[in-house]
Amino acid sequence: MLQAIMGYLEEHVESSPEWAKKLEELAAENRVPIMEPLGIQFLMQLIRLQQPDNILEIGTAIGYSALMMRHAKPDVSIVTVERDDIRYDQAVTHIQAQGAQDDILILKGDAFDLEETIRAHAPYDFVFIDAAKGQYQRFFESYSEMLSERGVIVSDNVLFKGYVADDSEATPRKANIAKKIRKYNDWLFEHEAFHTTILPVGDGVAVSVKKK
Ligand SMILES: C[S@@+](CC[C@H](N)C(=O)[O-])C[C@H]1O[C@@H](n2cnc3c(N)ncnc32)[C@H](O)[C@@H]1O
Repeated sequence: MLQAIMGYLEEHVESSPEWAKKLEELAAENRVPIMEPLGIQFLMQLIRLQQPDNILEIGTAIGYSALMMRHAKPDVSIVTVERDDIRYDQAVTHIQAQGAQDDILILKGDAFDLEETIRAHAPYDFVFIDAAKGQYQRFFESYSEMLSERGVIVSDNVLFKGYVADDSEATPRKANIAKKIRKYNDWLFEHEAFHTTILPVGDGVAVSVKKK
């Protein structure tokens, strides 16, 4: 049933602009794990609703999600972090190609090493975590401190291809990642300062909002 629902939604997903389609193709050719169609549309819809002035993204890859977030709100400022040299260079090229270099600041390096630089641009109205799965809790702990009062934190891949709910058919490596994500989700659900809801869109998206 869930598969039929997802199929239906994927058939009705808003189509991407031409420049974004090219990035989607490039990512598919090079096996770069960018957000899935329903996931990115949901993220953009959250941005249209929440209207953040500034966003922090952990995990730029080739710049796709940063550019799509800006597409959803063209006057937003984004700080995005990528530690892989090749992906960082590609992101710089793609962001410049869209004339977005004044709106999207790409930091090269590990998100933990760059904490002070990231803090210099805080507070953030919206934090998007889409990087190494085993580090999600550390990312959340570090960057939730830099959130504005109305801030929202979105974490991607929290259902990890369904293996978080059922890893009986997962390889040992995937089962291990699923275990780490399950631990993160449990920690998030128990968090005393945030309300968290997980939606089964894309690869599973957690939306965390500060408790009043
Ligand atoms: C899933 S991809 C990001 C996809 C991108 N958000 C999109 O949808 O277009 C994750 C990226 O995070 C980067 N990454 C992983 N851990 C990181 C860390 N600790 N600091 C900075 N970048 C990291 C990886 O190199 C990878 O390119």
